[in-house]
Amino acid sequence: MELKDTVAIVTGGARGIGRGIALALAHEGANVVIADLPSVQDEMEQTAALVEGEGAQALLAHCDVRDWSQVSSLTQATLDRFGQIDILVNNAGVISVAPVVALDEEEWDRVLAVNLKGTFLCSKAVAPHMTERRSGRIVNISSVAGRKGQFGLGHYCASKFGVIGLTQTLALELAPSNVTVNAVCPGEVDSAMWRDQLLPALAASMGTTPDEAWERFTRERVPLGRPQTAADIGQAVVYLCHADNITGAAINVNGGSEMG
Ligand SMILES: NC(=O)c1ccc[n+]([C@@H]2O[C@H](COP(=O)([O-])OP(=O)(O)OC[C@H]3O[C@@H](n4cnc5c(N)ncnc54)[C@H](O)[C@@H]3O)[C@@H](O)[C@H]2O)c1
Repeated sequence: MELKDTVAIVTGGARGIGRGIALALAHEGANVVIADLPSVQDEMEQTAALVEGEGAQALLAHCDVRDWSQVSSLTQATLDRFGQIDILVNNAGVISVAPVVALDEEEWDRVLAVNLKGTFLCSKAVAPHMTERRSGRIVNISSVAGRKGQFGLGHYCASKFGVIGLTQTLALELAPSNVTVNAVCPGEVDSAMWRDQLLPALAASMGTTPDEAWERFTRERVPLGRPQTAADIGQAVVYLCHADNITGAAINVNGGSEMG
């Protein structure tokens, strides 16, 4: 698919990996709907300015991906503004750290609701429009934690493994309509998610500062010896949007971490 003048929805598009994806798509000429929570309004506006700096149009939309009525409104607002939806990137996500036996039921539900149910709801809302046009791309952001179990991340791993299962199933169901569905599995990207949720626990376990823990972790645990960037994930999403004959795939962008 040529991306010039297409329309892409990026959930969780305000910051971090979502911003990297929004900018990579805008760089290719796609207009971008930045869908995120009201709590990150300032970051949404910053991303919109960067998208417009690429010469593309940006639409800001408040949407909690756990809520069907808000997801429906997001879809309608996109169609009202642009008349079409070519690309959906299910990127919104949350994480926390707790061993399974210590994990609250509410926290399990919260993480599964955003990461997995949100991906389901947004895909369900957008897919009929793509099917009708016999054209579309859905890209789901899974994780290296969707590939192998990780200590303290049972709920997050379950959600990200689930995203890959949903990706494969939806790829089968939408293939006859010429809509592709793929996943990208990032490894370690410096973002609020890492800084706020993962680094404190890692630094405590290493007995060091958060900055030192990040530097050592990415140097010693990632085979390529460095973290990935939001731009790397954007590049993979752009690749999958261009590709006409890739569906049901889950592409690692993790510096080799899955082998570690
Ligand atoms: N950072 C990493 O190393 C890494 C690795 C693998 C996978 N991922 C995945 O990449 C995606 C982006 O993560 P990030 O690292 O940029 O984190 P982040 O916290 O910086 O960004 C997540 C975004 O999702 C939004 N969001 C959260 N709950 C939402 C909801 N209910 N509805 C709509 N938006 C919501 C947040 O407001 C935020 O803008 C997530 O799916 C995450 O699981 C991240």
